[in-house]
Amino acid sequence: MHARPDPIEADNAFRDDVLAGLSAPIRAIPARWLYDRRGSELFERITELPEYYPTRTEMALLNTVAGEVAEVAGTGDTVVEFGSGSSAKTPILLDAVKPSAYVPIDISGEFLRLSAAGLKRQFPTLPILPVEADFMRPITLPEQVRARSKLGFFPGSTIGNLVARTAVDLLRAMKDTLGSGSWLLIGMDRIKDVDVLLAAYDDAQGVTAEFNMNLLHRINRELGGTIDASAFRHRAIWRDSHARIEMHLEALHDTRFTVAGQPFAMRAGETIHTENSHKYGHRDARLLLLAAGWGVVREWTDPEDKFAILLAEAEPPRFAP
Ligand code: AVJ
Repeated sequence: MHARPDPIEADNAFRDDVLAGLSAPIRAIPARWLYDRRGSELFERITELPEYYPTRTEMALLNTVAGEVAEVAGTGDTVVEFGSGSSAKTPILLDAVKPSAYVPIDISGEFLRLSAAGLKRQFPTLPILPVEADFMRPITLPEQVRARSKLGFFPGSTIGNLVARTAVDLLRAMKDTLGSGSWLLIGMDRIKDVDVLLAAYDDAQGVTAEFNMNLLHRINRELGGTIDASAFRHRAIWRDSHARIEMHLEALHDTRFTVAGQPFAMRAGETIHTENSHKYGHRDARLLLLAAGWGVVREWTDPEDKFAILLAEAEPPRFAP
């Protein structure tokens, strides 16, 4: 989520993704580039919007189920969080599970240091062992925790950013990282009334629009772009065939611009696809996890079934059905 490795490499990766994405027949830029400093601040504001239910719904749900998680998965496991816990969700889980160690994994060392420092104050005796890595690939965990039983934690419906095949790749990499006998606690947003979904991604105050439009400003700032941002508007679309909300930047009229010296032209109505947010029904969530070797043991939802938290167990390897 937080994309900030070595600055030179990062600049090139951003430029390469933007140029490739704008040149493709269906224009699309990976969602990770929405989250620069400004984008991350805007996302924090999104989580507080009245229309954006996921964060507060998951938080309330986690508060009520953390005790049961500890009952089923046991206490004293090592908690491994994918995307370091800058949120208020992590302490709720740590309070209940009373882990022997906490391993936050994030691609951004800066985020890791910040959240580790915050948690150190709240849990002074808990060993915190941050790992700076891209969790899309299997990771070697610190020596101290390798032999211990593990509980992976992946809240926030971040899995929803990924298309199904990439989501399965990620969940399988997590299983390889955590090992046999491990658990995974994961948050997923539910399929629901389209009006509720659209409002959550196109709020009345326009914060989500600003979040999406920030990508154009970032391209202008960091890649010497000449995009006229006023030629674009934020669009949120429910793509029923894919059970996802899509965010796009739509050209209001024909427009031309350059990025890193390369010329581009867009027609009125054409869009740049900037983010997906997949939603999962009860069966969908189970199948996605099963496809990656995780068997769902418990599932909790809020009374309105807006958001689900699932506890899954790594399935043992087997020879035949
Ligand atoms: C951070 C991926 C969970 O999909 O709801 C919120 C991102 N984008 N509003 C989501 C997001 C626009 C968010 N995730």
